[in-house]
This record gives sequence, structure tokens and C-alpha cells, in this order.
Amino acid sequence: MEMRIPRELVKALVEARRVAVLTGAGVSAESGVPTFRGKDGLWRRYSPQELATPQAFARDPKLVWEWYDWRRGLIAPLEPNPAHRFIARLEGEVPDFLLITQNIDGLHEKAGSRKLVELHGNIWKVRCTREGTVKEDRRVPLPEIPPKCENCGALLRPHVVWFGESLPVDALEEAMGAAEECDLFLVVGTSGVVYPAASLPQVARSRGALVVEINPEETPLTPLATWSLRGKAGEVAKALARELGWEV
Ligand code: OAD
Repeated sequence: MEMRIPRELVKALVEARRVAVLTGAGVSAESGVPTFRGKDGLWRRYSPQELATPQAFARDPKLVWEWYDWRRGLIAPLEPNPAHRFIARLEGEVPDFLLITQNIDGLHEKAGSRKLVELHGNIWKVRCTREGTVKEDRRVPLPEIPPKCENCGALLRPHVVWFGESLPVDALEEAMGAAEECDLFLVVGTSGVVYPAASLPQVARSRGALVVEINPEETPLTPLATWSLRGKAGEVAKALARELGWEV
């Protein structure tokens, strides 16, 4: 079924000078990355307390790393979808742009996004638990689990944010600044229940920005939205691109 895009929304997208975009797991769903909540969500099958907390890692680093290694293997062959490409294209069209993602899969970068902050880290990076140094490591599977720092021999951990941990300060500040200053805020594929990410569209709205939500389901952020586009991110992105005359 063809998705209908409101004419005023197309106009708002063309005229926007300052755009911020917040994405969640749903933007990668059509690429094959599992989401966290919902019917087939990861948190239905796995316990965040056992796999995604500093306590879990202290208790059983091997178990935690096996889960991340499995997820790395799952994500490695996947490709960006039209939603990732639409967002990358939007970056090139708008003078002041920031993509804020909660995703750790690296697919936005693979699609060409450059002005982005990763609020929850990146699954392709590892961090030394002693030195705090961060390195990229794209090997799948990892040759040793749990991996150790080649410099000091201490345990490495995934460079991601776990439950109970704070977000990287610089990334959050940049995201907050963009939410405060933007004239259009686009929210794609997030359930809007994890804070502080979920507060960003609220900040944008309270500063008078137009808010556009793309999600097949209603979320707690829906009441904030000037326009809610009910559909899958990739399909909505294709419909938007068609209206704008873009290839995605
Ligand atoms: P969730 O799994 O909570 O939500 C995914 C959202 O995507 C839901 O609102 C779905 O309706 C929507 N969705 C599903 N398929 C979609 C599609 N094809 N197109 C568009 N939307 C679709 O994922 P997040 O909101 O990203 O944090 O979760 C936020 C954080 O909670 C994650 O970053 C992760 C998780 O625990 C950490 O691990 C720190």
C-alpha cells in the first residue's frame, strides 16, 4: 500500500534549516537487526540484568562477551536499509544537522552518516577496563573470549552503555544542544521508554520544534508529534524520498 505523506510535512522538511534525528532499534529492523522490546525483541529472550549491566560483566565476563560476540556475528553481514540512507541524505541537504542514535550496530555510518553521536556506544569498539582506552575491533568471531587488552592484559569490555551506567557526557551534551536548537526533530524506530534519549524529542517540542515520528506503533512520544507516520522506517523513508525527488 502506498503511504500518503502530508504536503505540509514535505514543505517542512524542505524548509528546515536545523534538523535533529533520533533513532532506535526500529530503524535497523528491516536490515535484520533484532529490536529489544516487542514480539521478537531481545529482552523477551534474554535478561538485561544477566547480560547488559556492569554487575553481570563483573560476575561472568565470558557469558556477557559470548552474547556480544553472537550479536556482532548477527550484525556483521547486514546492510543499511532505505531509512538509514534517507537519514544520510538528509544530512547533506540541511545546513545544521545532527543524527543521534541509540543503536550500537554501526549501520548509520555504513550508510554514509557522518554527523552522528552514538548515545549508547558502538558494538564494533572495545574498551580496556583498566586503561579506559577504546579501539575498533571488527573481528567476527573474536579469537579469544573474553578478549584482553594487548597493551596491559586487563579485560576488555564492549564499548557500549549498560543499564545503570551513565551516557557519555560529550555525546549527551551535543544531543541536548541539537534538540534545543533544531526546528525539526525526526524520531525513527524508538519505543521512547529509555531515558535520557527519550527526553530529547520532549526538549525539542518544548522549544517549539516540529516533531515527526516514524514508527509502525504508537509510543509515549506520539502525543508530541506534529506528524506521526505509521509504518516501517524503510517504507516510510522511500515514500518521503519519492516526494522529495531523492534516490535512497
Ligand atoms: P526498542 O526495541 O525498545 O523499540 C523499537 C521500536 O521500533 C518500537 O517502538 C517498534 O514499534 C519500532 N519498530 C519496529 N520495527 C520497526 C520498523 N521496521 N520501522 C520503524 N520502527 C520499527 O528499541 P529502542 O527504542 O532503540 O539500550 O530501545 C532503546 C534502548 O533500550 C536501546 O538502545 C537499548 C535498549 O535496552 C541499551 O542497551 C542501553
